[in-house]
This record gives sequence, C-alpha cells and structure tokens, in this order.
Amino acid sequence: MRESALYGTYARQPLAFERGEGCWIETADGDRYLDFAAGIAVNSLGHAHPHLVAALTEQAGKLWHVSNVYEIPGQARLGERLAENSFADKVFFTNSGAEALECAIKTARRYHHVNGHPERYRVITFEGAFHGRTLATIAAGGQAKYLEGFGPKVEGFDQVPFDDTEALLKTIDPETAAILVEPIQGEGGVRPIPNASLRRLRELCDRHGLLLILDEVQSGVGRTGKLFAHEWAEITPDLMAVAKGIGGGFPLGACLATAEAAKGMTPGTHGTTFGGNPLAMAVGNAVLDVVLEDGFMESISKKGLLFKQSLAAVADEFPDIVEGVRGEGLMLGIKCRVQNLRLLEALRDQKMLVVPAGDNVLRLLPPLIITEDEIREAVKRIHDAAAAVRATEKADA
Ligand SMILES: Cc1ncc(COP(=O)(O)O)c(C=O)c1O
Repeated sequence: MRESALYGTYARQPLAFERGEGCWIETADGDRYLDFAAGIAVNSLGHAHPHLVAALTEQAGKLWHVSNVYEIPGQARLGERLAENSFADKVFFTNSGAEALECAIKTARRYHHVNGHPERYRVITFEGAFHGRTLATIAAGGQAKYLEGFGPKVEGFDQVPFDDTEALLKTIDPETAAILVEPIQGEGGVRPIPNASLRRLRELCDRHGLLLILDEVQSGVGRTGKLFAHEWAEITPDLMAVAKGIGGGFPLGACLATAEAAKGMTPGTHGTTFGGNPLAMAVGNAVLDVVLEDGFMESISKKGLLFKQSLAAVADEFPDIVEGVRGEGLMLGIKCRVQNLRLLEALRDQKMLVVPAGDNVLRLLPPLIITEDEIREAVKRIHDAAAAVRATEKADA
C-alpha cells in the first residue's frame, strides 16, 4: 500500500471523526467521545453550535471573500466589538495564532522604530512558552525541539526562566522592545503566571518603556471565566494575540493593540490575503454574540470550580497517578505522576479526549458550553481511567 501523502509532522492518534454535536464527537462507526480537547481550545462553543452554523451558512450564500483593499463591514463590526470589550483601540485580523503573534511582534518593533528607536527590537519571553510554529514564533517560544534543524534562530528573542523577575531585570537592556507572555502557559503545562507577577511585568514595562504583549491565543475568549485571562490580574497589555476560541473552529486570529502601540502600522506595513475575510468575520461575530451574553462568563467560572473541586477529589483518591490539578476556569491541567500519555490513552479507552502538555500534564479544555452533568460524566471517566492505570501499574510491578 502507498504511504500517506501527508507530511509526517503529526503523531496522529488512530481516530477519525465524522460529526460532532455540543461536547460530543463521533467517528464514522458511531463511537461517541466526550471532547475535552475541543481542537485544543478551539471549539469554544462545541461542535455544530446552531448559531455558528447559521451565521456561516448565511454568509456562505452571500459572499466568501473580498480583498482587504475593500471595506469589509463584518470586519469593522468584529473589530469594534473586540475593542469595546477589551483594552484595545485597534485590531488586525489573521488566520491563526502564530500570525497574530507575528503581527504583535512586528507592531512592537515598528512602535519603537517610529519613536526614533530602531535599535529597540528585542523581545523577552519565558521558558516553557509556546507562541506558534513560524520562524519568528519558534524563536519566541525558544524550545530547542521546535528550533532544531531550521537554520539560524530568528534574531531578537531573549528567554528567561518562568516567572523569574530577577532574571528578567538582568535581561532588559537598551535594545529591549517588549515582553511577551502567556497569562497561563498552555502547551507549557497549564502553568498560570501569578496575578502579582503579571502586575509586576506591567510595572516593569512602564518603567522601562517596553510594550507588554500577551499571548491569549489559548487562554482568551472566556476560557478562564473572563473574556481575557489577564483581566483577573486587573492589568491591561499594549498588544495581545488572540485566536483559537474566537473562531469557534473557523480559522481566525486577531492582534489587538492600543492606538499608541499600533501607531507605526501605517498603510503598507502589514497585510494578509485571507485574514478577516467575510466567512471568518461572520463566525467571529456569532461567537461573540454567545460569549458576551449576560451570565456566560459567570457560568464558566462556576463550572470550572465544580470541575476543579471534583478533580481534586480524584487526585486525593489516586495520589499515585495524579500529582495535582491546576489552571483557571475551563483551562485545567492534571499534573500526572505516571507518564501523562498513559492516562491520555486510558481516557481514550473511556471514550474521552484530552490534550497532552509539557511538564507531564494533561490539558482539559472542554467547550465553554459544557453542562454540569457533562462535567460529572467527565470526572467519572477520569476516575475510571486513573483506576485502570493503577491496575496496569500493579500488574507491571
Ligand atoms: C498560547 C499559544 N500561542 C500561539 C499558538 C499558535 O497558534 P496557531 O497554531 O493557530 O498558529 C498556540 C497554539 O497552540 C498557543 O497555544
């Protein structure tokens, strides 16, 4: 048989899905899985949400694409709504998280350039970070496994240990333009930056004339119980990258900026063919219709708390399997004592999907529309998976 024609870049699991509804996803054979991966925090409103389906199909019957050289009313509207509901004055739409970060990094460099400081181009990032797979964002993430073999690392990124202010202070120099950080590291293992540390980063940026760039590609759009996770720390960034949840499954990202930070981004400095196209805008606006409804954020916090407390009980019962539970809202991580992939596989046997992360963590990122009953069902499956792993551990011993 001919080998797959696809690049071998993904270690794919032996599963193919055909349809989904809400928090459930189904294979062609009719096997139903409880989806706590949600496309890695992408299907924010679950699968086939009627409001999103209607918005996309209605737009598909009218106009798919026009170039950004024309006005795009849905784009203006989504930009306006994101600005109204955040720190931002300005928005640039992209197709992905990495492109949103590219835009943020370029905007920060341009800001210093038009301020007469072209020498300020360096960006400080944190160990364990993940910002995407373009050449600049692998340099920003700084992880050797993603950089190896891709030529010289893009110049201009300095990395300091996670949440280490002393190291950060030593790294700031006259060439530093910005600090880039995820309020909760996702791929790094659901590691939240303490609120006090985020506030300190804001102060440091103000003191040294740096821009604070937040990567809320994974933590944004309600995932933690606020529209954006940094709101918990009561700070605002100068720039922010958003993607994943804002498109609910349609490829959509955005770079948000204050007017001051974006002042260098004049005509011709940046652009994209597909970013902000009418289909993506219809879906993005429909996602906001739902997540901005009264009580939606509060419901996420309430469900997140129920989930975290129930998981803590599982951790108490299986201290040999689960070391602890961390995260905020519906962005939770199980720190494993056994290899995280063993628990992932045991969960797959229980027909539940989760996502591995660094630091031997399993990420739990259900659709934000999950019900309390579905959370209880998930906890039961996690409990049973932990019991199954314990049983095989004993058998192996
Ligand atoms: C925090 C964070 N930043 C950036 C990215 C890159 O986004 P994309 O894969 O859409 O380029 C991701 C993707 O996992 C992410 O989690």
